[in-house]
Amino acid sequence: MAVIDKVSTELHLAKRMSRLGTETAFEVLVRAKALERQGRDIVHLEIGEPDFDTPSNIVHSAVDALQHGWTHYGPSAGLPDLRETIADYVSTTRRVKAKAEEVVVVPGGKPIIFYTILALCEPGDEVIYPNPGFPIYESMINFVGATPVPVQLREDLDFRLDVNELKSLISNRTKLIILNSPQNPTGGVLGQKDVREIAEVIGDRDIMVLSDEIYSRLLFEGDHHSIMSLPDWKERTILLDGFSKTYAMTGWRMGYGVMRADLAQHISRLMTNSNSCTASFTQVAGIEAIKGDQSSVDTMNKEFMRRRDAFYARINQIKGFSCLKPKGAFYMFPNIQKTGWPSKKLADALLDEAGVAALSGTAFGAFGEGYLRFSIANSMDNINKALDRVDAWVKKNL
Ligand SMILES: Cc1ncc(COP(=O)(O)O)c(C=O)c1O
Repeated sequence: MAVIDKVSTELHLAKRMSRLGTETAFEVLVRAKALERQGRDIVHLEIGEPDFDTPSNIVHSAVDALQHGWTHYGPSAGLPDLRETIADYVSTTRRVKAKAEEVVVVPGGKPIIFYTILALCEPGDEVIYPNPGFPIYESMINFVGATPVPVQLREDLDFRLDVNELKSLISNRTKLIILNSPQNPTGGVLGQKDVREIAEVIGDRDIMVLSDEIYSRLLFEGDHHSIMSLPDWKERTILLDGFSKTYAMTGWRMGYGVMRADLAQHISRLMTNSNSCTASFTQVAGIEAIKGDQSSVDTMNKEFMRRRDAFYARINQIKGFSCLKPKGAFYMFPNIQKTGWPSKKLADALLDEAGVAALSGTAFGAFGEGYLRFSIANSMDNINKALDRVDAWVKKNL
């Protein structure tokens, strides 16, 4: 009788998995929850999601859709009516002529990052992306074997983008440039002049731009400016936007990309291969979100602005902390260099010893060293509680 070898239980992952990064916010959330299970009281300023409920007109629309049989598969690129609605919305807000066939609806904004990089980039290609920035950019660039080229966002430029530095980083291997405005984690916002200068610097090179505008409606001053709005730029832009932040719909998982129709077909193919489609009843509610009453968006924005102003006033009183006033999104990104502590160590200490969950700036790339990110998507009471705790911790330890 043949001797059967013991089956190996070792996990042999594909090499590419070693290149995949993560989003630290979710890890810190797990650690904070574990502390809570031990009886600790933690203020959650780590995760970037509105603390508001989804507006009721949107919830009702989804419930109604479920009761009316929107429980089946739909087209991979999204329901035609929603694609049409998004095309109209983007045409108005970005002053372009977007068509339904240029829209791909996906489960959240994130898949547009995943699919775009997967569809366009390969080994040998360089991708320029903001750093500090949303960690999924760098993770995905590495995952597909392309070369990440960070462009540093600097506090002395209000965390906009240094166009000259961008220019120096563009090479004949640059395939994609990622922009994000309003920006996570800094709250920096690109103005019209910035967007124009970025376009000029790229010139007529064969480079596409992924413009992550998921916070486009979370703007505290001025107007939103998209590179897509510039003449001749629509064909070269992949616009990422969605429902998560604007309508407090993070858990619904719905976002979209708007891009040239031929690319949209390939992104849809990636959808067919991965998710089949975005949940049908949520898409019906997505139409209501865009077409229905928008007053809740204004109400949430006003509240975020009130919290921003309160946080700004208090954090700048705390020894070792200095913070700019963000112009958009819902994050505060104080400079903590004068505390003398490295960012990660300080974030860990604030969680373990002060019960405040914030993120190290390094969770957003190497240029985030010297900063912490606090999400202000939490109640004013909790924000004040967190600031009391940080203040007390600093007085005791620094
Ligand atoms: C800059 C940026 N892009 C994309 C996303 C992803 O959004 P979604 O939750 O819709 O996938 C986030 C979420 O935090 C973000 O901050």
